[in-house]
Amino acid sequence: MVEICDVSKSFGDFRAVDDASLALPKGEFLTILGPSGCGKTTLLRMIAGFSKPDAGKILINGGEVENVPPHKRSIGMVFQRLALFPHMTAAQNVAYPLKMRGFDTKTIPDRVSEYLKLVRLQGYEERRPHQLSGGQQQRVAIARALSFSPDLLLLDEPLSALDKKLREEMQLEFRRIQQELGVTTINVTHDQREALVMSDKIIVMNAGRIQQSDSPEAVYRAPSNRFVANFVGLTALFGGAIERVDDEGVVVRVGELALRARAGEALTPGASVDCAIRAEQIRILADDEENDTGRFDNTVTGKVDQRIFEGDRMVYQVTVPKLADATLFVFDHDPTHHAERGQSGALKLAWNARDMLTFPTNP
Ligand SMILES: Nc1ncnc2c1ncn2[C@@H]1O[C@H](COP(=O)(O)OP(=O)(O)OP(=O)(O)O)[C@@H](O)[C@H]1O
Ligand SMILES: [Mg+2]
Repeated sequence: MVEICDVSKSFGDFRAVDDASLALPKGEFLTILGPSGCGKTTLLRMIAGFSKPDAGKILINGGEVENVPPHKRSIGMVFQRLALFPHMTAAQNVAYPLKMRGFDTKTIPDRVSEYLKLVRLQGYEERRPHQLSGGQQQRVAIARALSFSPDLLLLDEPLSALDKKLREEMQLEFRRIQQELGVTTINVTHDQREALVMSDKIIVMNAGRIQQSDSPEAVYRAPSNRFVANFVGLTALFGGAIERVDDEGVVVRVGELALRARAGEALTPGASVDCAIRAEQIRILADDEENDTGRFDNTVTGKVDQRIFEGDRMVYQVTVPKLADATLFVFDHDPTHHAERGQSGALKLAWNARDMLTFPTNP
């Protein structure tokens, strides 16, 4: 449905998008995830036809679109900054693209009600944007982008202005609508939860380049490099050196300790690596609990530097002297521990080799 081949775009000397390629099958939901300024909007604007690539090709429905203007591309868009017409009612906003595209005027009212119903705004037809809440306005914008049955829906951080609760509701709502209509969608966000919750596929971008293109599970569980490991999830990163490689994985020397890690890319003894471990993969052992059964491949003792109360969990930031003062993050989901745990200043931590990733330091 959408194919992007080696697309680049520069502004002066600055490469905003660098040799990006992707393919998106019909009906799928793709999210482009990356930090502010990494080139997400620039890529989306090229797909929409608002700007042209310096190099590379964009195909929609199998055809090259270089010379097809935006309004002929059958694309619905919802922007980050909401662009409802303030003087028009909700119904008029939704009807607007239908009029522009020459739909039979007799069919327009039915289509408008159908799409307002889809976004659960029956009864709000006559309200103007200022008489609607932020979330309701977003839903009008979604109805407007969908009302003419576009082949492709492009979303540029449409939910970022909403409060957390509403945003999380809208993520699920959006996903429902997208699946109900089966409309091929590209969503742009820097919110990792949004990407994980909504997408069939995620593309992680940094500094104009695609870092990884995978299912949400793969992006989370098997990040392809240090950037992705760090950007998605709460991850501790620290340097080490490969001590040996054997059938069960690798042994990494970090400070005074030798830790077992998952076998990554071909690594040779002596090679410098970045080790990555996610907060939720680390277990907290009771002070008197020994790892005598060998349940865990790695155990360390660290000092709690910070306890961050997040309501449903406590996050400990722990420095481990024997790991060359590396900082680890750990979750504690059991509120019965929150009062006393970490007060002593020391925590015994354990994790398994399969949950510790290594990346070449200078690939
Ligand atoms: N018209 C322009 N002229 C010059 N530089 C630009 C232009 N548009 C974007 N840039 C630069 O290109 C880079 C990528 O911008 P882009 O808007 O694509 O980022 P983004 O990933 O969408 O970020 P955000 O999450 O903040 O919206 C930025 O460094 C930006 O300053
Ligand atoms: Mg942007």
